[in-house]
Amino acid sequence: MMLPPHLSSKVFLAPMAGITDQPLRQLTRSFGSCNIVSEMVAVNAVSRRNPKTYRIADVRAENYPVTVQLVGNEPELFVQVVPLIEELGAAGIDINMGCPVKKIVNNRSGSYLMTDIARAASIITQVRNTTRLPLSIKFRKGWDCNHINAVEFAKMCEDCGADYLTLHGRTKTEMYSGTADWDIIGEVKAAIKIPLIGNGDITSPQTARQMLDYTQADGVMIGRAALGRPWLIAQTHKFLEHGILSQPMSIELIKTTMLRHIRALSDYYGEKTALQLARKYVCWYCKGMRDACRFREKFVRIADMSQALVEIDRFFDYNREEALS
Ligand SMILES: Cc1cc2nc3c(=O)[nH]c(=O)nc-3n(C[C@H](O)[C@H](O)[C@H](O)COP(=O)(O)O)c2cc1C
Repeated sequence: MMLPPHLSSKVFLAPMAGITDQPLRQLTRSFGSCNIVSEMVAVNAVSRRNPKTYRIADVRAENYPVTVQLVGNEPELFVQVVPLIEELGAAGIDINMGCPVKKIVNNRSGSYLMTDIARAASIITQVRNTTRLPLSIKFRKGWDCNHINAVEFAKMCEDCGADYLTLHGRTKTEMYSGTADWDIIGEVKAAIKIPLIGNGDITSPQTARQMLDYTQADGVMIGRAALGRPWLIAQTHKFLEHGILSQPMSIELIKTTMLRHIRALSDYYGEKTALQLARKYVCWYCKGMRDACRFREKFVRIADMSQALVEIDRFFDYNREEALS
């Protein structure tokens, strides 16, 4: 089954609020081919012209296609906002119908919409009638284990004109716990004609292959496993397309990538915010390295970028020596 032409790969970087911002998207894409989705953008905030949300939705500076993800509840607001999103450079539009977070669900958005199929259908139909951009829906297995309606929901999305779908194999109440259900991904795939992207618990190029083989999905989406490993998405593409398994990243390359990331955060947000954001990323990049816990504890207390860079040097020198000894 064919994905829309702006998608150059079977592999997607998952939208992650507060994480897949422009610096991370650019870095991820610099490793090679893959599809990029923005953080979720609230349609009511865009319609109120909230400058912070506008900036999140603005992907014009990126020289690869970005699918912009929208979240909301009012079909009329989607209709109002979609032309602005087009102007801000989106190559495709994704609608978030899977987010389980309280704030979103309480606004009757995200995974709440899986319990209100009529409203979900109205949103999709009206967006479909407003834009010619490729349209996708990201959703879950269902609300809870007694309300599993992914197949019915997927058929509705297809009938309303979605071009492809992404399914995270967990219910809303599972949040991110337990194991993702790949069987439901297979069931949905068998029930629809449009392409389906499978999501949940892919941790490596090999598990991506397993998910595709197991479910017959048309593509994979990777989220948490890419945290601190922005190269993973392109490496997975290379493995799926060419059977080439990349070498593990050297300590030197991990350091270079982390520094590139911090520099990009600085350029985009300014040094102060970049340092705050760098705290979580540094933890992820250094996972599994010697004395990483102690380094993390130290790093989160650093208030000055030049000091942060000195500490990074020290930590990586120490790990390099350990690796050589
Ligand atoms: C911190 C975080 C933020 C997320 N934000 C979003 C979001 O904005 N939109 C969305 O559709 N899913 C969001 N997700 C869900 C992921 O896109 C993905 O569906 C989920 O993490 C399962 O995939 P994984 O097992 O590969 O991580 C988020 C997940 C995490 C961990």
